[in-house]
Amino acid sequence: MTIRLRTLFLGLLLALVLAGGVAALLVWRGVYDISATDQHTAPVFKVLDYAMRRSVLWRTENIVPPPDLADTRRVRAGAAHYREHCVQCHGAPGVAPDPLAFGLTPAPANLLAAGRTWQPGEIFWVVKEGIKMTGMPAWVYRLSDEEVWDVVAFVRAMPLLAPRDYAQLASTLPAPGSAAPSRVAPARRGDVAAGRLATERYLCVTCHVIPGFVSASHHVGPPLDGMGKRSFIAGVLPNTPDNMVRFLLQPQQVDPLTAMPALGMSQQDARDIAAFLATLDKVKAK
Ligand code: HEC
Ligand code: HEC
Repeated sequence: MTIRLRTLFLGLLLALVLAGGVAALLVWRGVYDISATDQHTAPVFKVLDYAMRRSVLWRTENIVPPPDLADTRRVRAGAAHYREHCVQCHGAPGVAPDPLAFGLTPAPANLLAAGRTWQPGEIFWVVKEGIKMTGMPAWVYRLSDEEVWDVVAFVRAMPLLAPRDYAQLASTLPAPGSAAPSRVAPARRGDVAAGRLATERYLCVTCHVIPGFVSASHHVGPPLDGMGKRSFIAGVLPNTPDNMVRFLLQPQQVDPLTAMPALGMSQQDARDIAAFLATLDKVKAK
């Protein structure tokens, strides 16, 4: 009996190792077509879509929507944000998405179904947090929670709009661009945890090696390990928290020749990121 069990166990182990080996071989050989022109196969799409739905459900049970979600003022405010940030990919009644959306895999869903069947909290969460490995951005750094609820109000109202209603509504909205992303004055001192998150979202890792972040291995800017201990920022500005905020907001005003771009961040995000960078006091051994 024990011998049989052991054989079974060894057999299973061998099968696992073989399967892992085959998978590694397929990856190494580059068999999987990652081109965006090659749509997901039906089983892959089903699994991904199901996993996304389950993941959203799991995280949104306790989100309570504001009571005035059907209020016309909210719907109008949401329509303005929608036209500015969403229609490019998701379209609207009678309006096609922009050409860039045609190149996305998975293709951005038409939101009529989500507007009808998703709970408000689920739409809220997806818009705020985005969806990994799709083109769906997280809007948390561009829209406040209240603004995201406005968008939710509009997405819920959209299935009831005929193309003519939408065109009429859109023609009465303020001009695109005037609903500027919220640039509220900082409400609190720099916060290390918030700064860590903001560092992730502002694409800092696409140009810098930063301790604790997973990123590509090609780097445009200097590594930021030990930044808290350095005397100067970009070699010219004494490394104080206020100077770091100044540099992050307007790098090119500090050093006109720098390749570090102004990333359009809010004062609060800059303070948070500066607080996070100040904690990087260890220099990684090269
Ligand atoms: C750059 C393109 C892009 C932009 C801009 C964009 N989305 Fe998305 N969105 C996607 C993609 C891609 C998906 C994932 C595919 C999918 O699940 O349908 C997605 C998924 C969603 C979903 C889940 C819907 C579903 O049925 O799966 C919602 C809801 C959503 N987006 C709302 C919004 C809202 C609201 C905005 C504007 C604040 C927005 N999106 C902006 C590309 C975009
Ligand atoms: C497009 C690439 C790019 C992005 C994105 C970028 N940086 Fe930079 N960064 C640079 C370059 C290049 C430099 C070198 C500037 C110089 O020395 O003139 C730099 C310099 C810096 C410095 C000064 C480093 C030193 O040694 O003094 C800090 C701090 C910094 N970046 C932080 C950030 C943070 C935080 C983010 C995200 C919010 C970010 N960077 C996003 C390219 C980038």
